[in-house]
Amino acid sequence: MSEQQIRLNSRMAEVQTPLIPVIGELIRQNPGTISLGQGVVSYPPPPEAIASITEFLASPVNHKYQAVAGIPPLIEAIKNKLQVENKIVINQDNAIVVTAGSNMAFLNSIFAITSPGDEIILNTPYYFNHEMAITMAGCQPVLVATDANYQLQPKAIAKAITPKTKAVVTISPNNPTGVVYDPSALVQVNQLCRERGIYHLSDEAYEYFTYDGIQHFSPGSLTGSEEQTISLFSLSKAYGFASWRIGYMVIPQHLLLSVKKAQDTNLICPPVISQYAALGALNIGVNYCQKYLPDLSLMREQFLQEFQSLEDICTIAPTAGAFYFFLKVNSEISDFELVKKLIEQYKVAVLPGSTFGMKNGCYLRVAYGALEPKTSVAALQRLIRGLRAMTLGSKFFS
Ligand SMILES: Cc1ncc(COP(=O)(O)O)c(C=O)c1O
Repeated sequence: MSEQQIRLNSRMAEVQTPLIPVIGELIRQNPGTISLGQGVVSYPPPPEAIASITEFLASPVNHKYQAVAGIPPLIEAIKNKLQVENKIVINQDNAIVVTAGSNMAFLNSIFAITSPGDEIILNTPYYFNHEMAITMAGCQPVLVATDANYQLQPKAIAKAITPKTKAVVTISPNNPTGVVYDPSALVQVNQLCRERGIYHLSDEAYEYFTYDGIQHFSPGSLTGSEEQTISLFSLSKAYGFASWRIGYMVIPQHLLLSVKKAQDTNLICPPVISQYAALGALNIGVNYCQKYLPDLSLMREQFLQEFQSLEDICTIAPTAGAFYFFLKVNSEISDFELVKKLIEQYKVAVLPGSTFGMKNGCYLRVAYGALEPKTSVAALQRLIRGLRAMTLGSKFFS
């Protein structure tokens, strides 16, 4: 069988190709490009995380498989964190499962709650790995548009629910828009899920990244939400932990066996060395991340300020979280074409909006989390110059 036939026969033929490696290759071909592409932070894990590795190494049993759902001291530390910071109480109705990153927690959730052919509601723009996981599982992503400021539209979500719907996914603070959802809309979605007997999958990977005094809200903190809420968390952004691959999920107790089946098959147990490091990080806690927030906040303000000069060619929604901006370029240029030219001619990389499901119009995601403050000025200048020049002479929407 040829390679093409194998591909056509596989479920993966339906799954979109991740674009970050494609953009990465373009960046490599154009040395000196500043990346506003990947959603990572610039800072490393706390030294206490690295120090915990000594403890891991001290016990030979740590080289063997450990518990599927995570090592007990880490689960205990997560339990305390959830109670203090998220107001999520762990009791007999719910459970914590440590995963190799929160993408894996999402995939575990989809395996646990769906059968092939089921539907999952995603709010657009969506996070591409969510859409990919749903498609891979043989399910249907059902797309519901957010409003002009990328806020949730609970009425539209309610309308999209069918007998095949198994869950509504929300991401707040949001990737790719940087928007923090109105807590009252999250409450409405959670109640809707409860009424309709479906799950609310709440991705909170950016829980610590909020600005202008905005507080993060966890739907899993609502009284009586345990039965229908799956909350996903990640250490990747908060603790500069992206390559260590540690995330965790809070699930209704009735899903624990199904989630463990998925996790046991895929992973057996999350890497134990990383779990020790995560324990060290959680012991230091949120203060670690908070040290870096003023710099990120300054960069966000600087970007917002400079973007004002693009008002005639771009629409930029207000953002209060994560480390993203989502620009709508009022032009007929294709998003990928624009991204390619920005890299090749202006040495600055961003991601095209079509990767996040925005195929009508030209949208760009700008990520500033990985920038050092000193490079942010250069990045901004290149982006603004590039966007101005590139849209000049192209056809404009009025
Ligand atoms: C919304 C969202 N969820 C999950 C992830 C992946 O997190 P992890 O590294 O924990 O798998 C990302 C990474 O960009 C993200 O933006």
